[in-house]
Amino acid sequence: LAQSADIKVCVDSMEGVRQLQKFRSEDVKSLKVLIEINTGMNRCGVDNHQQVAELMELISAADNLSFHGFMSHSGNIYGAENIRELHDIAIDEARHMHAVAKYWRNRGVTVNTVSVGSTPASKYLNEISGIDEFRPGNYVFNDFIQVCLGVAEIEDCALSIISTVISKPSAGRVIIDAGSKSLGLDKGAHSKQITNSFGFVKEHPGAIIERLSEEHGILRVKDSNEFMIGEKLIIIPNHACAVTNLFDEALIIKDTQVVDEWKITARGKVK
Ligand SMILES: Cc1ncc(COP(=O)(O)O)c(C=O)c1O
Repeated sequence: LAQSADIKVCVDSMEGVRQLQKFRSEDVKSLKVLIEINTGMNRCGVDNHQQVAELMELISAADNLSFHGFMSHSGNIYGAENIRELHDIAIDEARHMHAVAKYWRNRGVTVNTVSVGSTPASKYLNEISGIDEFRPGNYVFNDFIQVCLGVAEIEDCALSIISTVISKPSAGRVIIDAGSKSLGLDKGAHSKQITNSFGFVKEHPGAIIERLSEEHGILRVKDSNEFMIGEKLIIIPNHACAVTNLFDEALIIKDTQVVDEWKITARGKVK
């Protein structure tokens, strides 16, 4: 991998650096290390300059490691209550990281990379400065969570699940053949909840995918007469990242034609 990619790793603990000290490779003489900073997500990342100083000292003492810069992830943005809050979290992350880099540069440290970001924060890229790298991931597809947050429109969502109506047991209930194995269980990112539906049904925007079994989706609808058994429904999933990882292949559609089929090669790699 090192022959085709510029690999960087991130740490936020002394134990993490000690583990990296054991790393030896013919291809990578000096492994580039980023220190992760907590900018409010409260997942990984260090909280103060003292912790950074201790990590830097250990990294520079290792002959196989080189300090490369700082990274953060503004995943807390998925809990934003409104556009104002979304904007402020994006700007705060960048400001925070810019200030950390400045603090260390003022002390003579070479900071090569300041890496931040998330898909919702990328909406405010034009207001952000002092940053070298931005890492939106979901951005390639967008999904219903991004729509609910207000950073994308349904037309911006590139990934969909095609399901089939298999039953209409009552006037207000329609059953499809897509359940948790296809749509996933997320109703928001990072365990947040932003929608009450397990996806957005494109042709029937009022339908709520209320419950999921593994292979069944239970839709609450106004009038099941508007649905036909056998009808195909296009569903924008709530969380495109998790849904992509549920399938072996994706059909590539241009206009209405299937033009290719791609293997999802990164799937099933968690060991
Ligand atoms: C460390 C890190 N960087 C970047 C991203 C991409 O963020 P998003 O999913 O908002 O595109 C993620 C997603 O979980 C992440 O964990």
